[in-house]
Amino acid sequence: VKLFYEGKAKRVYGTENLNEVEIEFKNSLTAFNALKKGEFDQKGAVNLSISEILFAQLEKAKIKTHFVRKISENRIRALQVQIIPLEVVVRNRIAGSLAKKMGLEEGGELPFPVVEFYYKSDELQDPFLNDDQIYALKLADQNEVSNLKKQVLEINKVLKPLFQNIGIALVDFKVEFGKTPAGEIILADEISPDCARLWDLKSGEKMDKDRFRRDLGQVKEMYEEVLRRLKTV
Ligand code: TMP
Ligand code: ASP
Repeated sequence: VKLFYEGKAKRVYGTENLNEVEIEFKNSLTAFNALKKGEFDQKGAVNLSISEILFAQLEKAKIKTHFVRKISENRIRALQVQIIPLEVVVRNRIAGSLAKKMGLEEGGELPFPVVEFYYKSDELQDPFLNDDQIYALKLADQNEVSNLKKQVLEINKVLKPLFQNIGIALVDFKVEFGKTPAGEIILADEISPDCARLWDLKSGEKMDKDRFRRDLGQVKEMYEEVLRRLKTV
């Protein structure tokens, strides 16, 4: 099989079917646009399983994803898409870069889910883009941006209560979308503790990549706990 692309956390391979790729979830863990590097055993497998459960729930809610099937513990079959180079973020509470840039404490509930776009570029450190910048730079047109916003808010509507039911606050998350050869925009990449903030509702403990970013320890244990709880939904 031919390696098409290697990213920070995944490798994408070609398959005999031109419409499908194989995606390998790596054990590596990076933060701050790859400035900080780490890994843990079984990380790829844990994130794959978490993504698989979440994508299945989204498909049930009629949200299309690139997921086709699991091949092995750290590989999936997925639809071949052209990734739109925008990181689409939804925030339910104030945390991370929003807290930092406004000098606010983390944790405050936002009155409605806030959607933000970032340009996917480690070199440029994923700069924030507003809608006009996206249109003017031809990264996506108005229809595509409203499509992305609509889908990401639907995704939030499914995932927020799902996590709530297993005692976890979905504080914020990032997703990526891809375009199929037919031009349809579907959810791609993954949804895992790598790209979301997940806080235990009782203890307030962080159960996501902030444990690694902020050197809080028990990274593997917390990712595994998220998976354990998701298996009960
Ligand atoms: P932020 O607070 O750093 O802007 O991130 C918001 C959420 O989006 C957080 O859950 C982390 C996730 N995210 C990524 O996973 N990758 C990214 O490149 C960006 C910008 C955000
Ligand atoms: N864009 C950053 C990265 O993927 C987000 C983070 O700190 O996780 O490295």
